[in-house]
Amino acid sequence: MNGRYEGCGKEERAVYGEYEQAWLGYRRIEDGALRVKYAAVCGRLIVVGAGTELESARLELRSAIAGLLGSEPEEVSDAESADVGGVPGGPAIIVGLADTVRESRYAPASAAADLPDADALGSEGYAIRSGTNGSVYLLGGGAKGALYAAFGFIRMLQTGGDIGGLRILERPAYPLRMIDHWDNADGTVERGYAGGSLFFDGGRIGERMGRIRDYARLQASIGINAVAINNVNVHAEETRLLAQDRLDDVARVADVLRAYGIALYLSVNFAAPIELGGLGTADPLDPAVAAWWRETTAEVYRRIPGFGGYVVKADSEHRPGPFTYGRNHADGANMLADALATHGGTVIWRCFVYDCRQDWRDRRTDRARAAYDHFMPLDGAFRDNVVLQIKHGPMDFQVREPVSPLLLGLRRTRIALELQITQEYTGQQRHLCYLLPMWKEVLDFDAAGDDRKVADVAGGFAAVSNIGTDANWTGHLLAQANWYGYGRLAWDPSLPAEAIGREWIRMALGPDAAVEETVIRMLMDSHAIYESYTAPLGVGWMVQPNHHYGPSVDGYEYSPWGTYHYADRDGIGVDRTVATGTGYAGQYPAAAASAYESPQTCPDELLLFFHHVPYDTRLKSGKTVIQHIYDTRFEGADRAAGLLAAWDSIADSLPSRTYVEVRTRLAHQAEHAREWRDQLNTYFYRKSGIPDALGRTIY
Ligand code: GCU
Repeated sequence: MNGRYEGCGKEERAVYGEYEQAWLGYRRIEDGALRVKYAAVCGRLIVVGAGTELESARLELRSAIAGLLGSEPEEVSDAESADVGGVPGGPAIIVGLADTVRESRYAPASAAADLPDADALGSEGYAIRSGTNGSVYLLGGGAKGALYAAFGFIRMLQTGGDIGGLRILERPAYPLRMIDHWDNADGTVERGYAGGSLFFDGGRIGERMGRIRDYARLQASIGINAVAINNVNVHAEETRLLAQDRLDDVARVADVLRAYGIALYLSVNFAAPIELGGLGTADPLDPAVAAWWRETTAEVYRRIPGFGGYVVKADSEHRPGPFTYGRNHADGANMLADALATHGGTVIWRCFVYDCRQDWRDRRTDRARAAYDHFMPLDGAFRDNVVLQIKHGPMDFQVREPVSPLLLGLRRTRIALELQITQEYTGQQRHLCYLLPMWKEVLDFDAAGDDRKVADVAGGFAAVSNIGTDANWTGHLLAQANWYGYGRLAWDPSLPAEAIGREWIRMALGPDAAVEETVIRMLMDSHAIYESYTAPLGVGWMVQPNHHYGPSVDGYEYSPWGTYHYADRDGIGVDRTVATGTGYAGQYPAAAASAYESPQTCPDELLLFFHHVPYDTRLKSGKTVIQHIYDTRFEGADRAAGLLAAWDSIADSLPSRTYVEVRTRLAHQAEHAREWRDQLNTYFYRKSGIPDALGRTIY
């Protein structure tokens, strides 16, 4: 019972080194006075009750207190202790389920510390309360809540918080707070920029259990409660994850995640009844197909208690789906939902459905319209345990897109917002791009002007992981802030991007004020900087095909993927108006639809997403489109160089390896931003023939 949390085994530690714990590094607090203050509360630890999540909370509190304060708390067992509210022996940290603690001898005598009950907290919520004698109560509505309370308290210690007079009550905004891995069975990660897969390695599963446990701790510390371990593109090997001989391996991973309150999901192949089950069809309305899924699912639950459910990418980018059988997506999703329902499982059905074999000559088909066109007619047709997962924009995780109208349109269907933490189109973790400012804009978007923001209508969050086997987890050390920040926002979307960034800096990089001020500015500016040297004014892409890294203005212009900018000698942009274009603007509620319909009222940053305009069109900023392109590309490249200079300015305050690793990436970014600047400026100068008003060098 008294074992310390050990995390990685010795060999793994040697591989991963000093950054292995990300924001849970628990380095000793340097401020002696603060340490003494915290130690006065943290000297004793009492766990009331038992269970796996509580055990995880106990281990974490021990390890955090030992690391941060220099000595382990004394663990007081039920038998030895008297009422700590009164207290022989001094204050303690008391952790447990709210209702158990309220009825235990540890409930404080005084009503001053009145403790909330489980109903007030909900199953995942928690309270942190100061007791009468300086004790602190960490109370969960359910077991997960107690674990989150422990992490919430640890975060306070790590960020130098005041732990006197605490009356904190937290409830997550959404029941689903999910991370999707695009990990393949062979150990590669689709759109992964941080090494290989944590879960898979050359066909084997769960070989890195110590690291997976650390991963689970990090996820729980930010409130993540669902993880899909394999890629939405389910190939032959991953289809077999549902097979008898693979399920036990999946179950071992699920056991570790479950101890941290995380349900494991699998991405499944819609054609699995054929490929794995040997049936002649995967038609969702065929009784044999439904029976196959029922039996397979029952077996999954026999092996994996608390299994979350299935993630499905169907009829999308060559994946099989119900369209093959003349069925719609409700038919497909509901059949799987029925198989899962008796076990309490959920189908996460993705809405990323569009024609990826478009003819570039065809200007009427508009990929942006696709999700809304496919799914709006099905609103209300899905079972209660189906969640439609909708990308935040109508296209595909570009640095600038309008908010998906489908998110705002569906009223009778459970939905989850899908974000991409991995930086596929935002610099692939070689460029710094803190994504929270962009995500906040999405969450705050109020299309109808009726205070129904995206944050209010989303029933959950899912995001594509940026995590891999790299020592620092995310390739670019500062990209950890996107992972951390995603979890914090999924818990509470009202938290400011800057406050979250500061938390991460203090926890991961330490308490140095100069470091914090410098890094927070770098983070907060980085998305705008990235946008200003890449594709302009919302038009998107301009990247090299396939891997999507680096500039290639026409890389996708004559491709079948539906991602065009239509630049010619006179102008650029996509006409998505109702009046003369694809009609996409009409998918929004009236207020947004009319704002987007006219170039006069369309926000500058989305002008080329909605309109095809001449290069001399004047923006609201007063600049012409072409001069805006030149100016922002020059500024963007300069500001990218500024990120490197900022980092250099704190070199002496950083561990040398941290400094050098990040510097290498920032130096590459500065150089690569110049490449973006010059390729885009040159392209548009040659197309338009219009010179830069400031006469700067364009090639
Ligand atoms: C993007 C990405 C693919 C991914 C797809 C998806 O298109 O490039 O790698 O499979 O999104 O979200 O399914």
